[in-house]
Amino acid sequence: MQIIFHESSRTFHLQNNDISYIIKVLPNDQLGQLYFGRPVRDRENFDHLLEMNHRPMTSYVFEGNKMFSLDHVKQEYPSYGTTDFRHPAVEIAQPNGSRITNFTYHSYSISAGKPALDGLPATYTEQDDEAQTLTITLRDELLGADLELSYTLFADRAALARSARFTNNGCMDLHLTTAMSLCLDLPDMNYEWLQFSGAWSRERHLKTRRLEQGIQSVESTRGTSSHNHNPFVVLKRPETTEFSGEAIGFSLIYSGNFLAQAEVDTWNTTRMTMGINPFGFDWKLAPGEAFQTPEAVIVFSTTGLNGMSQTFHKLYQKRLARGYWRDRARPILINNWEATYFDFTEDKLVRIAEAAKNDGVELFVLDDGWFGERCNDFAGLGDWFANTDRLANGITGLAERIDALGMKFGLWFEPEMVNKDSDLYRAHPDWMICTPNRRASHGRNQFVLDYSRKEVVDYIYGMMSKILSEAKVSYIKWDMNRCITEAYSASLPADRQGELFHRYILGVYDLYDRLTTNFPHVLFESCASGGGRFDPGLLYYAPQGWASDDSDAIERIKIQYGTSMCYPISSIGAHVSVVPNHQVFRVTPIETRANVAHFGTFGYELDLNKLTEEEREKVREQIRFMKQYREVLQFGTFYRLISPFENSNFASWMVVSEDQKTALVGYYKILNEVNGPYHRVKLCGLNPEFSYCVDGESVHYGDELMHIGLLTTDGAAGELTPDKRKSTDFDSRIFVLHAE
Ligand code: DGJ
Repeated sequence: MQIIFHESSRTFHLQNNDISYIIKVLPNDQLGQLYFGRPVRDRENFDHLLEMNHRPMTSYVFEGNKMFSLDHVKQEYPSYGTTDFRHPAVEIAQPNGSRITNFTYHSYSISAGKPALDGLPATYTEQDDEAQTLTITLRDELLGADLELSYTLFADRAALARSARFTNNGCMDLHLTTAMSLCLDLPDMNYEWLQFSGAWSRERHLKTRRLEQGIQSVESTRGTSSHNHNPFVVLKRPETTEFSGEAIGFSLIYSGNFLAQAEVDTWNTTRMTMGINPFGFDWKLAPGEAFQTPEAVIVFSTTGLNGMSQTFHKLYQKRLARGYWRDRARPILINNWEATYFDFTEDKLVRIAEAAKNDGVELFVLDDGWFGERCNDFAGLGDWFANTDRLANGITGLAERIDALGMKFGLWFEPEMVNKDSDLYRAHPDWMICTPNRRASHGRNQFVLDYSRKEVVDYIYGMMSKILSEAKVSYIKWDMNRCITEAYSASLPADRQGELFHRYILGVYDLYDRLTTNFPHVLFESCASGGGRFDPGLLYYAPQGWASDDSDAIERIKIQYGTSMCYPISSIGAHVSVVPNHQVFRVTPIETRANVAHFGTFGYELDLNKLTEEEREKVREQIRFMKQYREVLQFGTFYRLISPFENSNFASWMVVSEDQKTALVGYYKILNEVNGPYHRVKLCGLNPEFSYCVDGESVHYGDELMHIGLLTTDGAAGELTPDKRKSTDFDSRIFVLHAE
């Protein structure tokens, strides 16, 4: 890994074994993008890569020069209106009404490692030799503003982290209305765009389309990263598969309103921008103030989508997630939500916990309904003290009973919300986000606290830390169940209202930061009505997230498959729930429910007392299996094998241990087949030299399993599956491979 500056050609070359990224100071002193892709040999001068041409109807920067136009030069952090007409990375509204900016090269510095981003989640290094960071300072003399572009190149990863920081050193108020985290101009449009979209209970479904001239984008305007779109997109070559070809992943480490956009211009170049959504964004930068954008990560793969995902998984698992739980296999939990909803007593909860303990579960999680006057979803949010009608001995008493069973205890909070029927609202009605003299819309009968206000965050921290200090709480599920409407803060002046959405998220990060710092052994699981805020920003604080409220095994295959494109398996909250399923009312075998949830953090979302003894025995076996293999399942190398988005009836994925001696292959069939074809699935990541024993039965070399495949045929009418069961609809299997 090296970052080189060639003074004579004013060229930066960021280079490691996987990537070259070349930047040049352009003739007008702005920054140009010359190349991003596979590594190339360094040279003093890459000026030949600067493509310029005389074109009709083009505006040019210098009088007398008909070649240099920003309209068709690839740039690093472009602005609009000085010959470039594409969407910019930066726009600043100035006191005289102008929005024209001109950030030109001033200086650079290169440092070992990676500095932290103040108040924002970001990737990090533990040793200085893990990465180098290039900071290029640009200056707009007229505005008196500096712009620092930061590029961190990791030593052994095909990954580049970028962000931007603005400082107002002048004497005018500036308003940042666009401040993207990255811009990457690519020389052609021969890409497919992959996005991860959906809705509540249908999160992160993979959608693919060809890039075309014009704009394609995904965004959030909801105050959360959202169920609807994820702050992650991929550009891949049309011929790229899961295992071969070029793919570029773009991921924003942010949990609020975002925009990810590809603009293809009339000459077929592609401008990718990603950052805080400029829609509704207006950040006042008064003299002396600075603004730091969130970080965006670019991953480059020449080994297809699997290669890209593995780079994201390892980076996010080891250098984004943090703390005590980062490298630890996650406890198997039972959550009472789908078992009881709001209808519980202390004894009922303890009975659920007892059964779970008996079957091997390690952590009991009490979900919504334990606090204030919370008997339904009209009341209580904001009152983070136990409802003693239900829990006579409070949280402390319940936690002690769970502890006495030999289990850990976890608790649900929804710290950003308030119901009007709550002590908090009655005491502080002005703490709720709403616009003066306008109706305040509700979501699930609740309203959003103004987390841009420090006193609000302080107050909630006080309530939560009291419980965490008094009771033995090992885990927190942090929920968030509505979007932000009528966005307005009573504490911000008129010319700062456009800051609210971002300030809100900074408040969320602040509370997460205080809690994780002061209670470092507590495991946090993020949640927002399922996967409404499943993003890298929260992964920095909470190493796992509840992936979706849809707990149906068949639905979950797509959700977890899409999620795995960016996020590691150790981050994917996945549970076995009851049948008929509460979201789609489908009945699936308990084996399949576990076979899907095993590729996640694993737990149960039901009352085990209500299962038959035969089912209980299966549960015990599932838990034994998870305890035996969770290190590999959660921290092994993950491969997607058969896509449920391409194959309507089958899906498959697998994990391989670091030493390649253990592999687990999840294989899922939606509907049974009559007299169907033979099926084989080609495995990945095995050692071709090793001979693997499959399920303790047949033995095959790794090369055979990878090149010829693993026979998975089942389901012909009346036939038995290899594990001697009759195959059914919604059947599945996990093949266990051990190298002999
Ligand atoms: C939404 C979450 O996703 C569920 O798991 C559950 O915690 C409910 N909220 C409780 O209100």
